[in-house]
Amino acid sequence: MDKNSTYELSNGVKIPVVGFGTWQTPDGDVAEKSVIAALQAGYRHIDTAAIYGNEESVGKGIKNSGVAREEIFVTTKLWNDSHGYEQAKSALATSLKKLGLAYVDLYLIHWPNPVEIRKVWEESNQAAWKYMEEALQQGLVKAIGVSNFHGRHIDSLLKTAKVAPHANQIYLSPSDTQDEIVAYNKQHNILTQAYSPLGTGTLLDLPELKAIAAKHNKSVAQVLIRWSLQQGVNPLPKSVTESRIIENFNVFDFELDNDDNTAIAKLKGTGKVAANPDEVGW
Ligand code: A2P
Repeated sequence: MDKNSTYELSNGVKIPVVGFGTWQTPDGDVAEKSVIAALQAGYRHIDTAAIYGNEESVGKGIKNSGVAREEIFVTTKLWNDSHGYEQAKSALATSLKKLGLAYVDLYLIHWPNPVEIRKVWEESNQAAWKYMEEALQQGLVKAIGVSNFHGRHIDSLLKTAKVAPHANQIYLSPSDTQDEIVAYNKQHNILTQAYSPLGTGTLLDLPELKAIAAKHNKSVAQVLIRWSLQQGVNPLPKSVTESRIIENFNVFDFELDNDDNTAIAKLKGTGKVAANPDEVGW
């Protein structure tokens, strides 16, 4: 595995193994500059979402990076106010316009069971999905997927879907390994993407990880990203700091061994854990 390595989605689309996360990256200069820094550091995969409020700046970063659009894998996500056929159509059009792109590489339903549609989540997701399948046919998106979905949410989607999700992006770190969802995804040939692979920073000071990092002459962040890769998932570390952006992509020259993995397996619950999508207040 090296910096050009990709996973292959079930429709044959290739997705770079490490993506650049932009959740909590403020709109404006910060987002634009961090995306440029990431692309210059070698990332070819940028992850954003309508709700992050930074699509315009992320789009500017992509445009001003000097890297050709076709070389970059771009993901955005459908927010909770847009579950439904017409709503999804208009939400994707808005995201494309803000990003300044003719297509995105991956479009995800952000949450399966938003509070506003909790009584009708199944039909709302199915209707949004119907439009996403059309967008796929029209080339407005190259792949479609979901985020924060548990198996039962995907099962519900599959009742009416013509195309199964290509990816499921979830919170995943040694603190919450989401074994059931990962197994479900694997069984259905759905790529697991890991947002907040550093536990939004909550894992960076753990002594167990510091020891592993020192052993490999790497940082804790690099150990966590490497751990994600060795789990076969697709980490999306976020940073707005150029040195960290570079550091987080420099994870292809070492390997965690069995002792490391055994120690990391004991870290469940030591940092942030995933929210329950059926109980979130958004
Ligand atoms: P910042 O963006 O200010 O550089 P996650 O990807 O799990 O959501 O974690 C993101 C958080 O971790 C952010 O607060 C980010 O800070 C911080 N972070 C990202 N990369 C590193 C790193 N290599 N070392 C220390 N902190 C990092």
